[in-house]
Amino acid sequence: MNRNIVIIFSCLIFFGMLFPLIPGTNTEVAAEYADKVLNNFASDSGMRPVVFPHWTHRIRIRCKVCHADLGFRFLKGSNKITMRDIAKGKFCGACHNGKIAWPAYFCDRCHSGKMPEGKILMPKMAGENPS
Ligand code: HEC
Ligand code: HEC
Ligand code: HEC
Repeated sequence: MNRNIVIIFSCLIFFGMLFPLIPGTNTEVAAEYADKVLNNFASDSGMRPVVFPHWTHRIRIRCKVCHADLGFRFLKGSNKITMRDIAKGKFCGACHNGKIAWPAYFCDRCHSGKMPEGKILMPKMAGENPS
């Protein structure tokens, strides 16, 4: 009896099947951290880099919507996005317009990255961010 259990456990460990049960070794949660940092202009303009949670968007929205219809290119850093585009309803602004998703005046929700060393954060203006 005991011997069988030992054999089963040895097999599970051998084939790596127990790893998802050991805290810190579950590789699946890593998907949630697949955030994309967009920073072609932001930190140069005194804004924090944009952290785009790719995964939370991918679960509800089909790839085609962004990568074909809205013109987001597949390569990291290759999308040159400005707030002007967003205000005109392009890129993030196609949805973050107060209708499909919350509007683009909640600056901090997108500009949530860590300021790179040597870049200066723009001082907050009173009432700038209603969030
Ligand atoms: C809400 C819009 C949106 C949806 C939906 C979406 N993506 Fe993306 N994707 C982006 C953005 C934004 C980037 C970052 C591009 C950049 O860095 O300029 C990106 C980046 C990528 C990249 C490049 C990653 C890299 O590190 O270079 C790949 C590959 C990709 N997406 C695949 C997919 C696939 C596959 C799906 C569907 C399962 C999907 N995307 C759904 C917006 C989206
Ligand atoms: C095709 C529509 C679409 C596009 C394009 C899009 N988003 Fe979103 N986004 C959503 C929706 C829907 C939600 C969920 C809103 C809610 O929960 O009220 C969301 C939520 C978010 C969140 C919060 C995620 C969380 O964990 O709750 C962030 C941050 C965000 N978007 C940033 C961006 C950025 C940056 C871009 C452009 C690079 C972008 N989004 C483009 C539809 C979109
Ligand atoms: C829905 C997401 C989102 C919100 C909300 C948002 N931004 Fe942005 N912002 C972006 C993205 C994406 C970029 C391009 C990032 C890059 O590559 O540098 C950007 C770039 C910028 C830039 C540099 C480019 C340019 O247009 O000059 C500034 C400055 C900026 N944002 C200011 C703001 C301010 C101020 C607010 C609030 C009023 C705000 N943003 C809210 C997504 C957002």
